[in-house]
Amino acid sequence: RFSSFDYDVAVIGAGPGGYVAAIKAAQLGLKTACIEKRPTLGGTCLNVGCIPAKALLNSTHKYMEAQKDFAKHGVIIEGLKYDIPTMLKSKQKAVDGLTKGVEGLFKKNKVTHIPGTAKFRDEHEIDVSGTRIKAKNFIIATGSEPANVPGGFLKIDEKTILSNKGAMELVEVPKKLVVIGAGVIGLELGSVWSRLGAEVVIVEFMNKIAGGTDLEVSTTLQRLLEKQGLKFMLSTKVVGAEMGNNSVKLKLEGGKAESVEGDKVLIAIGRKAFTEGLDVEMLGIPKDKQGRIEVNRYLQTKHSHIYAIGDCIKGPMLAHKAEEEGVFVAEHIAGNLGHVNYDVIPSVIYTHPEVASVGKTEENLKELNIPYNKGFFPFVANSRARANHDSDGFVKVLTDPKTDRLLGCHFIGPNAGELIMEAALAMEYKAASEDVARTTHAHPGFSEAFKEACLAAHSKAIHF
Ligand code: FAD
Ligand code: NAI
Repeated sequence: RFSSFDYDVAVIGAGPGGYVAAIKAAQLGLKTACIEKRPTLGGTCLNVGCIPAKALLNSTHKYMEAQKDFAKHGVIIEGLKYDIPTMLKSKQKAVDGLTKGVEGLFKKNKVTHIPGTAKFRDEHEIDVSGTRIKAKNFIIATGSEPANVPGGFLKIDEKTILSNKGAMELVEVPKKLVVIGAGVIGLELGSVWSRLGAEVVIVEFMNKIAGGTDLEVSTTLQRLLEKQGLKFMLSTKVVGAEMGNNSVKLKLEGGKAESVEGDKVLIAIGRKAFTEGLDVEMLGIPKDKQGRIEVNRYLQTKHSHIYAIGDCIKGPMLAHKAEEEGVFVAEHIAGNLGHVNYDVIPSVIYTHPEVASVGKTEENLKELNIPYNKGFFPFVANSRARANHDSDGFVKVLTDPKTDRLLGCHFIGPNAGELIMEAALAMEYKAASEDVARTTHAHPGFSEAFKEACLAAHSKAIHF
């Protein structure tokens, strides 16, 4: 019955997980197709996630700098204004360029792009909008979708009640934006609109912002964002809503206020795996309580030739995690060795200053009763940061007292999102803090703050 396959590998979904898996599989000599239901490739990340968010963060950061910082450097601008249609166009240009770029990469690597929605017919056949496709292996990379507040009292219409998508398409600055959830989306998109003058209030369930981020980093970030004008209502739950003509009043519990009202509400309380309509249940493939497809350590489902990767399985919902899993699975199918080191997955929050971390937080280590040394270095003692007048934040490294190996590295400060990769590389190769501190770092550079924090972990910093 399975004697003739159309493809060696059929990848379902063309987000960072799926498109990377498809390219890698094709590069390894496998006949590969990638099925995508969206009109453009690139998934959540390129279309409505990472890329448009970073484009808007960059544009609004330029505006904020021009407004608040340029004068300190002797650069005087009169009549400074923003122009939202141009900002949105500039964002769309980045999105279009990159999604078309994936199309180009598919052609270059001979991946067949099949537009349409895939659903399983049996364990070796899918239906894509009426066409049947047989494949020897499948990679499910169907991603995730925004979660909604339980209770069903808020309906996302992308006009007043927004998800990440609508919050990046507003043509006017809201007067007051209420964000539910002080996670990554809330902080990034809250920053975007706050920089353009919106009053932004973020309501958060937990008693801290930025979820699992190291506590010292998250309290510093909160203080710096409050200085920029963002307001936080922590330990507060949204329990109901009243829709007005041009506003929404949210009923609250647990915190200081009973309600909060805004002309726009952004729901950013996390995302859930998206596997609707795939019919994996018919194949007996189990999902966990959060609807994520269950996989083994090789990312195989119950059927060893059907793999799943990215946001639709367990683990951090990050584009680079999805990509690494895509490469790993393609290599596994081709019979090669591969690996994903889940202990060394960096994460970045692209606020200003940026926040970046890799490995264990201080709270993780305390909880696990793991002893550690701590090296700390503030950017106020870093010469590049001082020269740039951009010295909020610090670097903190946590090391094993016996081996001196890095267990966790946490950055808040200028270019943290790029600096983190030095820490990730050091951890991937099991470097000790002394190895980093003995590596010559170019002066003046932000990365010297990491070197000094490493020095502080096993000895003493020079400049602090
Ligand atoms: P997705 O990117 O969600 O792609 C899945 C694709 O599968 C979709 O295009 C979907 O249309 C398609 N699909 C689903 N079902 C079917 C079907 N049956 N048939 C055909 N196609 C189907 N991560 C970062 O690492 N860095 C960031 O800066 C960052 N910023 C973000 C900002 C926002 C606002 C959001 C929402 C997310 C952000 N993320 C970021 C998270 C990142 O976007 C996801 O982790 C990543 O996109 C997951 O990749 P994926 O391939 O698993 O799924
Ligand atoms: P998140 O998981 O980062 O944060 C959600 C926040 O909402 C948490 O702090 C949580 O406590 C809070 N929350 C949950 N339910 C709530 C409720 N009912 N009321 C009030 N608060 C509530 O999720 P977010 O921000 O929606 O982002 C989704 C995913 O997208 C993230 O997990 C992240 O992996 C990814 N992402 C990554 C980015 C990056 O890497 N820079 C940027 C944006 C998103």
